[in-house]
Amino acid sequence: MNIQQMMEFEIGEALDKQLTELLMKSFEPLYHARSYFKQSPHLRLIAFDEQQHVIGQVGLDFRMMNLNGDPIRVLGIIDLCVQEEWQGGGIGRALMERVIALGDEHRIDFLLLFADRPDLYERIGFHTVSNICTWLQIDDQNQTTRGIGEARFEELMIRQVGDKRWTDGKLDLLGYLY
Ligand SMILES: CC(C)(COP(=O)(O)OP(=O)(O)OC[C@H]1O[C@@H](n2cnc3c(N)ncnc32)[C@H](O)[C@@H]1OP(=O)(O)O)[C@@H](O)C(=O)NCCC(=O)NCCS
Repeated sequence: MNIQQMMEFEIGEALDKQLTELLMKSFEPLYHARSYFKQSPHLRLIAFDEQQHVIGQVGLDFRMMNLNGDPIRVLGIIDLCVQEEWQGGGIGRALMERVIALGDEHRIDFLLLFADRPDLYERIGFHTVSNICTWLQIDDQNQTTRGIGEARFEELMIRQVGDKRWTDGKLDLLGYLY
């Protein structure tokens, strides 16, 4: 198994097809027939087997967010998944360790994700936070902007990377919610 980091625009059609199949299988019945749910990530970490077939992936989004008036540098983690026949072998953890390493190596204040299974992420240093979020709503069916949403999410988890401390209160995502 090897993990490669790719910018989204470097991904060719054949690889995009493999990613689409993996994502559709992993997040059935929600996922559309494309390699992203609402918006494409900026880059991905992709795990390949010896024959260079995709066996796992995680999307990454880097952007500024606004936490109670303070600009924060956020690396967002999107749609982590591993082929069913490869699950339980440490690939999910290896992908997340690479994400954490990116956070440690670069100018990032927080890693952020919306978790279906918080237990997986608690074991690697993430914790649940409870902020009132504002975000740009995208209709995933027809790919149009719906408006501005405001809500609290039980699934929101973060991992502090830099010196900044997370605070309760308002989190403006300054963009769409992944
Ligand atoms: C979640 C997922 C990415 C984990 O990938 P994986 O390669 O199987 O994970 P790993 O083998 O690295 O295991 C990571 C941890 O999860 C645990 N784990 C893995 N599969 C599990 C399962 N089915 N049930 C419970 N725990 C599980 C492992 O014990 C391990 O914990 P540890 O490191 O403390 O021992 C994979 O199961 C998957 O693609 N699921 C479908 C998509 C999904 O739900 N993604 C997460 C959205 S939040």
